[in-house]
Amino acid sequence: MNNFNFYNPVKILFGKGKISEISENIPKNANILITYGGGSIKKNGVLMQVKTALKGFSYTEFGGIEPNPAFETLMKAVEIVKDKEIDFLLAVGGGSVIDGTKFIAAASKYRGDCAYEICSKQTLVTEAMPLATILTLPATGSEMNPNAVVTRRETKEKFAFYSPLVMPQFSVLDPETTYSLPKRQLANGVVDAFVHVLEQYLTYDTNSPVQDSMAEGILRTLIIEGEKALAVDRPNYENRANIMWAATMALNGMLSCGVVTDWSTHKIGHELTALHGVDHAVSLAIVWPAVIENVREDRKEKLIQYAKNVWNISEENDSLTIDILIKRTNEFFTSLGIKSHLSDFNISADDVDVIVKRFENRDSDTLGNLFDVKTKDLRSILMSRL
Ligand code: NZQ
Ligand code: ZN
Repeated sequence: MNNFNFYNPVKILFGKGKISEISENIPKNANILITYGGGSIKKNGVLMQVKTALKGFSYTEFGGIEPNPAFETLMKAVEIVKDKEIDFLLAVGGGSVIDGTKFIAAASKYRGDCAYEICSKQTLVTEAMPLATILTLPATGSEMNPNAVVTRRETKEKFAFYSPLVMPQFSVLDPETTYSLPKRQLANGVVDAFVHVLEQYLTYDTNSPVQDSMAEGILRTLIIEGEKALAVDRPNYENRANIMWAATMALNGMLSCGVVTDWSTHKIGHELTALHGVDHAVSLAIVWPAVIENVREDRKEKLIQYAKNVWNISEENDSLTIDILIKRTNEFFTSLGIKSHLSDFNISADDVDVIVKRFENRDSDTLGNLFDVKTKDLRSILMSRL
């Protein structure tokens, strides 16, 4: 097992009715900005629950944070924070609202020229406002991690930043808030969480059986519960609870302790979203099979372990096993209704060239954290998914 630092101070309030406990976890004299997206929390009653719980508190609302949150929108919230002397942020929504709120927390204290530098130049965040979250879409793990991904519409860039200073003080995970999710978003969430686990687990053996077993358990849970969730018309509490916790555990730092992680599928996927508006999870379903095909020899050992422990594939022949596991994983994504080819989104060979150029200009030989997914292979990786 490799050396690691693990730090996660996020308090989790999990279960039915837990929104009512937020008042016990926010300072009584706080001046709160409630941030949310396009309005789903108004329709499903979550905003009403939040307002009821905040009786007696001082708060302002900021709605309209879009999927793949835009820097341009978030800076409007930063102005409100400054004008109204807001001192606590409460994000209510999915990963986009939570990520956007993390950015607002850091940008409100930023002293440089342009706050997007926090993402594009990875400028160190030295100060941030306190924030908390109420999650309504299990997917990103943002509710319990230090990451945020923000898009700059003007330049069509999508970059992440990381800072322990933007980890939520607490996050409410009430599975009932997910009942109003359209199937498309439910499927997106399961696939995103699944690929989060794969990016951390499906690399090289570091003799870390605790992390491996946890990863395999989360993957098996997402397969079983994801298929169940998509098969029924009426949501089931236990099913939604298991998906919610699996997605949080998939990216709260636990699985990456002591192991080597990749993230090339995510880095490539972000370009498909930034340039063509492809849903985040869909971008991963498109890219992942090709990345794995590209490293199938190097990562053979872990791929065989994944095939056996997650999919129960036990062919004698390693190469056939790897063929089957890539096919099975891809079929799992598509069975949830996720499209997984570039042509499904009218993305052509010319568009692939644009993406390849972008990575070449970034001057890095590799696409993720590891040596094995190389920038020079990007064209063939993407062309195989046309
Ligand atoms: O905006 P509203 O009206 O709330 O509707 C949203 C949005 O249209 C809707 N929704 C959310 N909860 C709902 C609901 N609709 C009905 N009922 C509910 N309970 O779902 C739509 C998508 O929401 P969004 O927040 O965009 O989805 P998701 O949670 O998948 O977040 C995606 C963003 O997170 C980033 C992605 O890149 C993308 O920008 N990621 C963040 C990560 C992190 N912070 O660690 C890691 C991930 O890999 C990912 O990159
Ligand atoms: Zn993701």
